[in-house]
Formats: sequence, C-alpha cells, structure tokens
Amino acid sequence: MSRTVIKGDLCWSRGMDELNTVQNGYLVCEDGKIAGVFDRLPSRFAQDPLQDFSGCLIMPGMTDLHVHAPQFAFRGLGMDMELLEWLNTYTFPEESKYRDLAYAERAYGSFADHLLHSVTTRASIFATVHVEATELLMQKLDDAGLCTFVGKVNMNRNCPQYLSENSTNRSLKETERWLREIEGRYRRTKPILTPRFIPSCTDDLMYGLARLREKYEIPVQSHLSENYSEIEWIKELCPRSRHYGDAYQQFGLFGDGYPCIMAHCVHSTEAEQELMLKNGVFVAHSPESNMNLASGVAPISRYLDNGLKVGLASDVAGGSHESMLKAITHAIQASKLRWRLLDQNVKPLSFERAFYLATMGGGAFFGKVGSFEPGYEMDAVVLDDASLDHPQELDVRARLERAAYLADDRNITAKFVCGERIL
Ligand code: GUN
Ligand code: FE
Repeated sequence: MSRTVIKGDLCWSRGMDELNTVQNGYLVCEDGKIAGVFDRLPSRFAQDPLQDFSGCLIMPGMTDLHVHAPQFAFRGLGMDMELLEWLNTYTFPEESKYRDLAYAERAYGSFADHLLHSVTTRASIFATVHVEATELLMQKLDDAGLCTFVGKVNMNRNCPQYLSENSTNRSLKETERWLREIEGRYRRTKPILTPRFIPSCTDDLMYGLARLREKYEIPVQSHLSENYSEIEWIKELCPRSRHYGDAYQQFGLFGDGYPCIMAHCVHSTEAEQELMLKNGVFVAHSPESNMNLASGVAPISRYLDNGLKVGLASDVAGGSHESMLKAITHAIQASKLRWRLLDQNVKPLSFERAFYLATMGGGAFFGKVGSFEPGYEMDAVVLDDASLDHPQELDVRARLERAAYLADDRNITAKFVCGERIL
C-alpha cells in the first residue's frame, strides 16, 4: 500500500452548509484515497513520508463542471453580445480554427497549462467538432495529470457551413470513430457525449447520439435554459416538448439512469427543475458567463434546498477566467444581486455553499471527490496565503474566505490528484 501524509491548515466541506477546518493538521492518504485527518499524527503513520506545508491552506481540488477549451483563446474578448449573436460572431469562427492541428497544439497547450496551474483538479470540457484536435486536447490534459471528461462536440445545423458536420450520418460516424480511437488510451481522461445544444443538432442526430450513449455507456453534457431567445427557439424547434429539459428527455439525452451535466439552467421552470431532480441531472452553474452574456442569475440556493445536484463552472469563454476561486466569489456576488433586485425568497449563497459547489458539489460527478472525509479520492490544493498579509492573526476559515477573493495561481504551492503530486 502507498501512503502519503501532508501537513498544513486543512479546510473542507462536510455538506453544503458545513465547512470544517483543522489548523496544523495531518491529511493521510492511502492508495489515492483519504484515510483521515488528524490533529496529531498517530504513531502508526510516523514512518510514512511527510510533506510539510505548515502555514499554508490545504483544500480539496476544485471541479470546473463546464468549460470550453477552444474558447480559452478568446477569453476576455467579445463581451458585448447575448448568447446567440455571441456564438455566431465570436465563438463559431474561433472554433473553426481547430481544424488546423498546429493551431490546436498552441491553443490547447496554453489551456492545459493554465488549468494545471489553477486550483482545478477535475473538469468537464467541451472541445470542438474536430476529432484529431479533440484527441490532442485529451492527451495534453492526461499528460498534465488532471482528471477530466472531454467531449467532441456534435453540431449539424444552425451554424456556419465551415463548422457544421452537415449530415447526421457524418456527425455520428465521426463520434464513433473518436470513441473507438481513444479506447484505453488515457489514464485520467474520459469521453463524454457532447451535443452542443438542441438548436445545433437535428432530431435524428439527437436520437442517434442517444443510441451511441447506450452502446458506449458514457455520460452526456449539454446546455440548458441559458438565455430567453434560446428558450423561445426551442419552443419552435420542439413544439411537442413541455419544456427545454423535456425536449432532451424525449431524445433520450437527459440523464435518465446515467450521468448528465446541463450547463446554466438560469431560467428553468418548476417542471424542468423537477425533471432534473428526478433524473439526477447535474446543474453546472456558471455565474460569470451568465453575467457577461447578460443571461441572468440562476436561483442556486433554491436548487440546493430542493436537493438538485449542482456544481460550479467557469464556462470559458462566456466566463473570462479559469479560476474556480473567482467562480466562487462571482456566484456569491451574483446571488446577492438576484436577491436584492429580483427575489427575496431565494437566499444569497453563503461562502460555505459556494465553496461546497466548487469542491463537493461538482466533485460528485466524478464519484467521491471534493472533500477530505474518509474514502474520498485525494485531490488537494496547497495555497500559500502569506503574501495576503493582514495586521492580525486570522483563523483558518477567515483565511480561506479571504483567499477565495484575493489569491491567484501565484499562491498555489502544490497540487495533488488521486494522491499523486502533479504540481
Ligand atoms: N450554448 C451553446 N453553445 C454555447 C457556448 O459555447 N457557450 C455558452 N455559454 N452557451 C452555449
Ligand atoms: Fe457553455
């Protein structure tokens, strides 16, 4: 058995409203899993290798539940439009560049490098329609030691000719070629079926993807109820559906008995929320993106109170930054404005809840991930907050909250995935 012990100021969620801290504690990891957290190191572990990060914060690695790798190159640009116009003006032209592997090499290299040096240890990622570039991205993420789901995107309508897969047959064939080619190739990178969203995929493509999902037993990710014009469009495209989520359900792509992530869910109706709850669909909440694209603010505290599965996401390049620390603070800030300006019945997100979303909430998509409770996979980030100087001594909980607002990648000292140090 392999065992590692790391020492420092430990912080982790036990549930959505419970944040636990141990100052100068010991985190013991056995075969990649958490064996326990201790105030004093039990003598039975005294001979094991110890990595001493005394004075640093140690938190679970964070999960970015929804991010577009090919959009990383234009992050921070084109924030002047809403979703549908933004896709046509900025996103589709950028994504078409990944036909060129030399471009993909540079752009995906930069994305993987930024992700490695962030607090993220797990992510669910959209690539583009291009099989070769998607495989290149998967290899780079695997080489970095990160644990990810990556999807080759499907789209065969309502997009420029230069990006469309054109026929249903071609889109399905390319998807199956991709799934066959990558079989057994990576250690920590897995495929996820990725119809972009219903407006991008014909009905027969959606039905075909549902068949592939069953055949290859892989999860699904897509977008849901992000923007008002998008939702109106779905009523025209799927006149027999009761709501947007019901349309995915009718195609057989809404997490009924298998893992499924739906990004945004800003404007989900009660009926849509009920179906997500029943099917165990994960909501990927992307607060910065929802502000940049003027989409709105999802009622996340209500979703949590009602038992929905929710994680946090950057949605780069709707979001401008890969940092999940920023996503935490954006989620809190957006929820406060929603509460003040729109609906006092939905509480703003507490720091505890936002931290939970970034760790345990999204981590649950990967299994027992995102906490230091025994049995969880040992993903951890060590953050040196000494440079965030303060005239008084603060407790660990206060330092953590402050770090969420003030720290960046320069504060990251070490990072572990499944017990293995990758940074
Ligand atoms: N809906 C369909 N495609 C996209 C995308 O690339 N980003 C966002 N935010 N929403 C989408
Ligand atoms: Fe997105």
